[in-house]
Amino acid sequence: MGRSLRVAVAGATGAVGLEMVKTLEKRNFPISELKLLASARSAGKTMKFKGEDVVIQEMTKKSFEDVDIALFSAGSSISKEYAELFRGNKNSVMIDNSSCFRMDDDVPLVVPEVNAEDAFKHNGIIANPNCTTAIMCVAVYPLHKAKGLKRMVASTYQAASGGGAKAMQELIDQTADVLAGKPAQVNVMAQQIAFNLFPHIDSFLDNGYTKEEMKMFNEARKIMHMPELMLSCSCVRVPVLRAHSESLNMEFEQDITPEEAREIIKNAPGVILCDDPANKVYPMPIDATDKYDVLVGRIRQDVSRNDKKGLEMFISGDQLLKGAALNAVQIAEVLNR
Ligand code: A2P
Repeated sequence: MGRSLRVAVAGATGAVGLEMVKTLEKRNFPISELKLLASARSAGKTMKFKGEDVVIQEMTKKSFEDVDIALFSAGSSISKEYAELFRGNKNSVMIDNSSCFRMDDDVPLVVPEVNAEDAFKHNGIIANPNCTTAIMCVAVYPLHKAKGLKRMVASTYQAASGGGAKAMQELIDQTADVLAGKPAQVNVMAQQIAFNLFPHIDSFLDNGYTKEEMKMFNEARKIMHMPELMLSCSCVRVPVLRAHSESLNMEFEQDITPEEAREIIKNAPGVILCDDPANKVYPMPIDATDKYDVLVGRIRQDVSRNDKKGLEMFISGDQLLKGAALNAVQIAEVLNR
């Protein structure tokens, strides 16, 4: 464990921010001073940290004057507004959960189990990946290292938490309304989510994919240092509160059997093999919720091919933890090693 640091959480009252604070506490991150920052609406309220009340402050540029590490999860416009305080700054680092800077050449995009060493190449800003991408990379990378990933098709089942605290509340409210025979009110998400799902996360691009799908494409290539990885994604919002799931079809350079894949996953960091279908054991979002590790299972040889180079698998990971808060805190831990 490194030295004690002055840490700020920007957006501490949000769905991810709350988990950042909890994760810092649970992992006993060495903190000499903690600042919890949010909008003026929350200023003066308190949040617990290690049994103490910490007063939430309104975030201003002055908030970061004496901060070593700032974990940002207050939305893209806020990240953009504050980034210049950190870019080129040798004394403090912004670990940013927004998508603003992820593809910038001077901003490392880090999943510590995959590319921890990239974190040290920062110029004041380190990006935390898209949630679905982080969960996918931690599960796929050990297989890639062993057998050379060539092509992948990913279909996602993404929870409401990806849309923030308001989206989670919308799922709860809509479900209650529909059960009470009332019409569902759609305010935050693109469509009704209660008793429904929709293939529309973030906006549509000219190539027919959504921004979310192209984030997975671009970010996975950057994180895994695979600029030519062939990858196609379909991202779907489902009526689950907080853990994302993904169905992954993978093609490798070398032969790989399900038994080999299970052995690799068993010995890899950040993942738990959860693969005993006969006993109804497979990844599910309800089991991944509140867990640091990504659950991996339903591993099987791809029957659409007549060789041993294709695998299917299903994964579930907590969107707010490995998909966001935990990954950000792990990056801070890497910097403080
Ligand atoms: P607040 O709770 O005071 O609105 P989520 O992504 O779950 O919706 O959370 C967004 C987070 O960003 C919250 O902590 C929210 O604080 C914070 N936030 C929103 N607008 C601002 C702002 N203008 N300045 C600082 N923090 C903000």
